[in-house]
Amino acid sequence: MKLRNDHIVIFGGGSGIGLAIAKRFCEAGAEVLIVGRSQEKLEKAAEEISSASLHVAAFDVADCDHHRDFFEKAEAELGAKIGGFVNAAALGSSVLGRGYEPWDITPDEWTMLTDVNFKAAFFLMRNEINYFLEKEIRGNILNFASNAACMDIRGSYGASKEAIIKWTRALGKKYGHNGIILNGIAPGATFTPMIASYAHSIDQPYERHAIERFIRPDEIAELAFYLMSDYGEIICGHTVVADGGDNKATL
Ligand SMILES: NC(=O)c1ccc[n+]([C@@H]2O[C@H](COP(=O)([O-])OP(=O)(O)OC[C@H]3O[C@@H](n4cnc5c(N)ncnc54)[C@H](OP(=O)(O)O)[C@@H]3O)[C@@H](O)[C@H]2O)c1
Repeated sequence: MKLRNDHIVIFGGGSGIGLAIAKRFCEAGAEVLIVGRSQEKLEKAAEEISSASLHVAAFDVADCDHHRDFFEKAEAELGAKIGGFVNAAALGSSVLGRGYEPWDITPDEWTMLTDVNFKAAFFLMRNEINYFLEKEIRGNILNFASNAACMDIRGSYGASKEAIIKWTRALGKKYGHNGIILNGIAPGATFTPMIASYAHSIDQPYERHAIERFIRPDEIAELAFYLMSDYGEIICGHTVVADGGDNKATL
């Protein structure tokens, strides 16, 4: 099994799941550009991976008017056309300092989260599809939803992630005909900075999951590798739920 494309941009690649995917893809021989808002954080992350194939660039995905300019910059940095995008940038409970209960969220928090998780997620995906179409690339797009989309109670976070599942389905079915493979992953609680408010150690038991533990970022990276591999092409327009059997998920 090999990656279907080997020049990859990972939005949200400076930590957690995105960083684990960057490591996995570099090990598989890909040239990878990790992207986040903080240059310092990206450089620290690159030191951790220590691969000549890893590149860094700071960019705020909420700046939707400049996505295409950034893709050109990314192309120059990678030295080739981009063949794959991983859209893992998002804000979560760590910025709220609590969970996603709909009765707690304020209008300002709603805007902060949805600007990145909803608006930027849509325009990023649409601009990536246009980039592939214009350059006639049989590319890959991997979105990040969440199993929060599978629960009865949800605030703006779960709603934005549910939208990502629906967009992935609709656009995946449409652009698969152009050779563009668009899929998603909906993780359960994965041990990353995003859930630092309640996950203090990877060894901490987590009863909500049937497997009674947190998911590790490298486990999600392995699934990402499959979905963006030549074999993964048979999955097109779907979001794979990897939530260890979360007892709050109803879908
Ligand atoms: N961890 C979980 O339990 C879990 C569960 C379900 C779904 N997910 C999803 O999985 C994906 C990865 O999350 P994670 O757990 O790896 O969290 P994470 O470690 O917090 O990673 C998110 C990354 O997004 C970047 N980011 C945030 N806002 C950005 C912006 N406006 N522009 C560019 N980059 C931005 C952050 O870097 P900067 O701060 O430097 O910008 C950060 O490196 C997210 O979509 C998340 O919603 C995670």
